Amino acid sequence: MAPAERIQFLTDKLNYYSFQYYQNAVSEISDQEFDLLLKELEELERKYPDLKREDSPTHRVGGEITKEFPTVKHKYPMLSLSNTYNEEELREWDERIRKGLNGQPYEYICEIKFDGISLSISYENGVLKSGVTRGDGTQGDDITTNVKTLKSLPLSLGKSAGELSALGLNGDFEIRGEGFMPTKVFERINEELQAEGKQLLANPRNSAAGTFKMQDSSVVASRELDCYIYQFLSEEDIFKTHEESLLALRKAGFNVSDSWQKVSDIDEAIAYINHWSEKRHTLPCATDGIVIKLNNYAQREDLGFTAKSPRWAIAYKYKAESKSTLLKGVTYQVGRTGAVTPVAELEPVILSMTTVKRATLHNADEIERLGLSVGDYVFVEKAGEIIPKITGIDTSKRNEDLFKTRIEFVKKCPACDTELIRTEGEAAWYCPNEKGCPPQIKGRIEHFIQRKALDIDSLGEGKIEILIENGLIKDAADLYGLKFDDLLGLEKVHEDELTGKKRKVSFKEKTVDNIIKGIESSKQQPFAKVLFGMGIRFVGQTTAEKLTDYFKTIDALETASLEDLLNVPDVGEKVAQSILEYFKDDFNLNFLNKLKAAGLQFEAENTIKEMEGSALEGMILLYTGTFKNYSRSEIEEKIEANGGKLVSGVSKKLSYLIVGEAAGPSKIAKAEKLGVQMISEEEFEALLAY
Ligand code: IVH
Repeated sequence: MAPAERIQFLTDKLNYYSFQYYQNAVSEISDQEFDLLLKELEELERKYPDLKREDSPTHRVGGEITKEFPTVKHKYPMLSLSNTYNEEELREWDERIRKGLNGQPYEYICEIKFDGISLSISYENGVLKSGVTRGDGTQGDDITTNVKTLKSLPLSLGKSAGELSALGLNGDFEIRGEGFMPTKVFERINEELQAEGKQLLANPRNSAAGTFKMQDSSVVASRELDCYIYQFLSEEDIFKTHEESLLALRKAGFNVSDSWQKVSDIDEAIAYINHWSEKRHTLPCATDGIVIKLNNYAQREDLGFTAKSPRWAIAYKYKAESKSTLLKGVTYQVGRTGAVTPVAELEPVILSMTTVKRATLHNADEIERLGLSVGDYVFVEKAGEIIPKITGIDTSKRNEDLFKTRIEFVKKCPACDTELIRTEGEAAWYCPNEKGCPPQIKGRIEHFIQRKALDIDSLGEGKIEILIENGLIKDAADLYGLKFDDLLGLEKVHEDELTGKKRKVSFKEKTVDNIIKGIESSKQQPFAKVLFGMGIRFVGQTTAEKLTDYFKTIDALETASLEDLLNVPDVGEKVAQSILEYFKDDFNLNFLNKLKAAGLQFEAENTIKEMEGSALEGMILLYTGTFKNYSRSEIEEKIEANGGKLVSGVSKKLSYLIVGEAAGPSKIAKAEKLGVQMISEEEFEALLAY
């Protein structure tokens, strides 16, 4: 057989065997025979690379390296779903559907809400052409090489139009699905990491997200990711109902989870929710809720979309899982401001697929409020499935006094042994040794270089620590005196938090060059960012902006009276006092003078705010936590530039609470209590794009 023919033959044969194996669970040949044919194909493709087909099964093993994933625009925007955590709202939604459809009969399809990353996968002529991440809903990263490693995803569906129509599909369409790391794979990788004494992966969702964005597709292939398909999109109206599309996709070999169910009313949907509430943990993928979708496409069209999501679908999110575990001890962390935070050290427990070993206890009052002792069993849950917190003592377990020791809040700083102080009316204990306490020094410098402040990116990843240890810097202003030769050759081995992998940080020529450039260009950062970076207590990003808008120069701010300060919007007594005190202290003034001498910006530019759009018109928004694509000021600007109103606290009036990383648990808890809808950064972006 000529090479071209043999390549055709092997590609088709191997794709057929894969299809039988992954979709029909039939092994027509042994693994060895399969591998032998695959090897033969690989060799032929190596010799004749031009003959390699796009749907070659060798894509599954990866090997292609992508330097940077190109951004591509979605043909159909990737929207999000509105969420609810309670039955009552679900019934209200159903009522809106009933009214919207003017009494027509309707059915729902209930599906599991898989917790991975959403993927948009396009086929042309029945051949997989591209796999794209959701990105901001309008455009995403083209990660086709990695998507092709998903073994359950057909690379081609058959060559002829006849074959395709027998499957009930046309050749050109897009499917949407959730890419995920199967729980089993996640656990296996973690077992291996544990055996090697390395840090474990945090959770399957983040591991999947990280893996899908890896540059080396052979590593992606080794991680055995998978994907569930839940949506079909095409120019032609092939299907009348969602049910028909799911059946056809399944028949064509796509991995459609068997867990979906057609129901005829909301009561049956609620029964579905209850049925899966526990059972969902046995599925191969992490889940965070249920999606209820109107079955009939024409009815979907009648109902249309709200600003951010379809009216015809809703996600019901399961409440945070709560588990009881042993409180083994309490450790203390010292932050940049000297505040000492107690941290509960727990017997590891798995909560929503994540191993929880520690939980913040906020402050001494919280320990008191909970009445905790070391040796207690405590209930841990994840607020909004994000941050673990202790909600109370499990009195049903081992509570004999014999095993317990009351928690005495530390009296001295765990880092520098200075006696702690507590100001009247404040919850936190502070270490007053701001000049000499190492975590405070490091924290202040890290605060200074962060993106939201002076944005000296090149100094991240543990480099500050090295500079301090080598006696090169004592405060952030010292950065401006650093010379190329001071840095060249410094190094230290760090352990990666996520994987436990050892990583050597070394200051090679290029690194040092970037650092020096980064420090130099930070001199152009606007006054508000500099002021925020200085780290005055209670002066966050927004306050810094308000202050610079008001006073315009550092001199005016430095000499401002209490009365002047109180005139600034949003500045209250506490902030004003803190500012006055800051500028009274020689230590701070010395730091400020060094910054001035370095040439940083201490005058405000006049900025005119421009509107970008009106997508958020009439909405009242609040955010909590940090975001991948925005600093606090950037997200605030985005909200305002798109017509949204920003407020400072959770109330029933809120349209949405935007929840970022490390979100504030109290805001989340309050939003949950008031039934305020919470959205992720991606959902916020989809909202803007709409
Ligand atoms: S349908 C208009 N079905 O949830 C949006 N989404 O918040 C249609 N997801 O980005 C989405 N399982 O990544 C749908 N069975 C399912 C799902 C599902 C998980 C994710 C998806 C989407 C997010 C919506």
